[in-house]
Amino acid sequence: MAELLRNPEKMSKVKDELSSIIAENKQVEESDISRLSYLNAVIKETFRCHPAVPFLIPHKAETDITINGYIIPKNAQILVNVWAIGRDSRIWSNPDSFEPERFLDGKIDYKGHDFQLITFGSGRRICPGMLLAHLMVHLMVATLIHNFNWKLEPGIEPEQLDMNEMYGISLHKAVPLKAFPVKH
Ligand code: HEM
Repeated sequence: MAELLRNPEKMSKVKDELSSIIAENKQVEESDISRLSYLNAVIKETFRCHPAVPFLIPHKAETDITINGYIIPKNAQILVNVWAIGRDSRIWSNPDSFEPERFLDGKIDYKGHDFQLITFGSGRRICPGMLLAHLMVHLMVATLIHNFNWKLEPGIEPEQLDMNEMYGISLHKAVPLKAFPVKH
């Protein structure tokens, strides 16, 4: 919601897509999600820029292993910096810019096969809540946007929105978003 309020033209694109697929007096349903391709790209882009679990959950090496010339000794604790992968300019063009369009071709997903976007981890310990989270995040954001127009606090312009983040096991906004719904 913060990225969309900061990028009003992208908020309009999400709204237009919702109105073209769901009648105004109808609620968004689970079966609509796969048809909301722009919203899907917005959520992937949000996961790239603001991964909810920025270092995954700590893993441990089962044996000594060498990867890319680096020796990882048995029992070493391994933190995977998903946040840095999402901001790496060798992987992403304009990594600090919020551009859902980069995902519109549908080639990259967060289901654990595309290592540039491992929001939910990958492999044996991949997040078992991924499918529930996928449905809930799409349904919540779509419902909020389909039913209301959203405004920032009076006097705050989109480009002034504080997007600083606070690290912990999970990543959250340092300054909570204040947004006001306006029924249309
Ligand atoms: C946007 C929402 C969510 C994100 C981004 C997320 C992300 C993650 C990540 C990155 C991991 C660690 C994976 C790894 O280290 O390889 C994880 C583990 C886990 N997640 Fe989620 N998660 C989300 C929602 C949920 C939900 C809704 C549930 C349960 C209903 C859930 C349950 C778990 C559990 C139980 C683990 C530990 C799995 C294990 O260690 O074997 N998560 N999650």
